[in-house]
Amino acid sequence: MPITLKDLSGPKGIPIFGNALKIDVDNLHNQLEDWADEFGSVYRLKLITRSMIVITEPKIVQYILRDRPEGFIRMKKVDKILREGEVHGVFNAEGEEWKLHRKMVTKGLDVKHQKAFFDQMLVTVERLHKKWKRDADDGNTIDIQQDFLRFTVDITTTLAFGYDINSLEEKGGVVQDHMEKIFPMIFKRINDPIPWYKLHKSKNDRVYENALKEINVYIDQFIADGRKRIAENPNLRKSPSNFLEAILVEAENEEYFGDKELKGNLMTILLAGEDTTAHTLAWSIFLLTQHEEFQEVIRKEADELLKENPWITEYEIAPSFKQIDAVANETMRMRPVAPLILFEPTVDVEIDGYLFEKGSLLLVESRYAAMQDVNFSNANDFNPARWLKETKCPMHNLDAYIPFGGGPRFCPGKNLAILEIKLVLSMLFKNFNIEMITPHEDVKEIMAFTMMASDFKVKLTNRS
Ligand code: HEM
Repeated sequence: MPITLKDLSGPKGIPIFGNALKIDVDNLHNQLEDWADEFGSVYRLKLITRSMIVITEPKIVQYILRDRPEGFIRMKKVDKILREGEVHGVFNAEGEEWKLHRKMVTKGLDVKHQKAFFDQMLVTVERLHKKWKRDADDGNTIDIQQDFLRFTVDITTTLAFGYDINSLEEKGGVVQDHMEKIFPMIFKRINDPIPWYKLHKSKNDRVYENALKEINVYIDQFIADGRKRIAENPNLRKSPSNFLEAILVEAENEEYFGDKELKGNLMTILLAGEDTTAHTLAWSIFLLTQHEEFQEVIRKEADELLKENPWITEYEIAPSFKQIDAVANETMRMRPVAPLILFEPTVDVEIDGYLFEKGSLLLVESRYAAMQDVNFSNANDFNPARWLKETKCPMHNLDAYIPFGGGPRFCPGKNLAILEIKLVLSMLFKNFNIEMITPHEDVKEIMAFTMMASDFKVKLTNRS
């Protein structure tokens, strides 16, 4: 007999509320990991109206990720909340609709377009270098996470819209100001067992709804501008210079793809592309500043590959940065910024001796498995070298490593994110030394849809 929801153990709850009052949303991933230690790799949580099954077992997780879009969908509540905000794009579409969204978005983000867009990325790298040079010359203490957020929002808006908001140089970029309000509220609404905002809108609810409205006004304008550019310059049909132009051209051949779908995907790219990459960069700095030896490895690689250049100037050399690749992988193993993914089975399904019923809520926590010695040897050690081909790592279970998800819905922005990480880290270590000012132990993990680091400060000095 397979194990069903009612057979599963889990934390003790109280009448009516179950475990709901115990949930600490800001720290949810750590709580789930502690409970996995206690109750095993599949356990249940009782919420007010429903139960949820938490899964950390790689074999089951891989099955779920691969059996999409047919066998599993994203939790319906995620779609409902995003649609209330007029976001209907590839992240929350399902079934046949998802296939159309995915085709469109993959084309918009493909390597050909990334290459065409590379020179515009370098403009942003140069600005970041200029800011850091000034900070180093003036001896400033800097909030490097904010710099990363500005960098990724500039890259993402230039890519998505062909519009350079230059938030690195012009304080208070409007788009970024609004974006900051969106993610935490989406996460809060997903986690609230009761949709309080439907009964009474708090100030944060109003700020969130207003931010969505404002961004949508911008998006309408960008779409109109994009259409005008294509009409004036038909060459853009063959070689679109950004994501918007690429999907506008594709959409002309696809009846289903109207303005609603275009807008939904532009918003999705903005949401998916900014925080994730910025927080991964921030976590890499947090980890590298505890390991001088790996900073030296990156510095050596940057010196060798960049030669006299202060940053990467040719797209073709980016793949050669193997050490930065390894640092990115190790950072995402230990500090994945998207460690929680929610699913619902579309039919009753038995996996590895467990029966998951149609419509049940499944929460995959992905870091737990990646931090177990059975999957990665000495899993608690930060060791980027484990990702290098030449290192013979005794234990390496890639099924337990899913920072970008997996199966047909794996993150389509992965290549772009890795490219941004290489551009930033190679420029940083080629030109500067970095010192952590905030004690490492004061930096906390905060879950707000993405798992980010609490504020920390660093100091840069010019490399002599
Ligand atoms: C380090 C940076 C990033 C991380 C860790 C990350 C992680 C993820 C994860 C875990 C998923 C869910 C995958 C699944 O369900 O199997 C996802 C989906 C997605 N990501 Fe990323 N992401 C990153 C950067 C980006 C960037 C830069 C973009 C675009 C510019 C992007 C666009 C998307 C989209 C559109 C989806 C939805 C795919 C679908 O449902 O078919 N991501 N990402």
